[in-house]
Amino acid sequence: MKVIHDVTELAPFHQGIFVPTMGALHEGHFMLVREAASRRTTDASGRSSPVIVSVFVNPTQFNDPKDLERYPRTLEADANGCAAAGADVVFAPEASVVYPPGENVAPPPLPAVATEPKLEDAHRPGHFAGVCQVVKRLFEMVRPRAALFGEKDWQQLQVIAAMTREADLGVGIIPIPTVREKSGLAMSSRNVFLVGQDRVRAEAISKALRDGCGQNSPAAAEEVMQKALRAHGIVAEYAVVRDAQTLRPIDAAFAGPKRALIAARVGPVRLIDNCAWPQ
Ligand code: PAF
Repeated sequence: MKVIHDVTELAPFHQGIFVPTMGALHEGHFMLVREAASRRTTDASGRSSPVIVSVFVNPTQFNDPKDLERYPRTLEADANGCAAAGADVVFAPEASVVYPPGENVAPPPLPAVATEPKLEDAHRPGHFAGVCQVVKRLFEMVRPRAALFGEKDWQQLQVIAAMTREADLGVGIIPIPTVREKSGLAMSSRNVFLVGQDRVRAEAISKALRDGCGQNSPAAAEEVMQKALRAHGIVAEYAVVRDAQTLRPIDAAFAGPKRALIAARVGPVRLIDNCAWPQ
């Protein structure tokens, strides 16, 4: 497996299965890579579809400069893990390759799910514009036939699926369930910053979701989640049950799939998690 840095080296890997990441890879990412490898197909000439992982800490999606500065960068370990998980290539471009100086890499029009729900969109202004900008740009460079994204970033997944559909990018978006630690904590590159009591408090988030998902109405679920978080001294940015696809608020008549979602700060880290409601 090789690590490449330039767009000109990508040609042999077009029409592959793509796992976009910002690096600092953990078991959740390696699960995506293994899933991608299991979805390889062979074309008429006997060529198997390549598995490509990108590692790029995208500056345009960080709304907190300190978060960007301290974001863990571990390319060598990432590349070794990707090789073990079955990737054919890691694409690790410099910012000047993704955003060439003097070239305007315009963000695509944002789908409604990136601006209307008042969830991540309200708490991280500009974040989804940066995500859509880089994902569209990466798709143009990598030219995959399908791309895998984790369900942990549920709103991001809906945003990318809608953007890809609306901009007609011709890439299949494949969602992959969240990978959790034994305690239930959703795996995240930022978990390395959780130490001591913060780690214990962080575990309360997945427990609150589990409790909420056992309730028999969305309103009861929201109340139980808020209460469970408060019991650990956590003030949620949101703890809600929404339409799983549009992420709009729901009323009693809404019969479609629903999702419980939580965002909260624990110590130095902002955590998000979600699950299908009810479970
Ligand atoms: O989820 C992430 O790691 C990033 O938001 C993504 C999709 C790789 C875009 O930078």
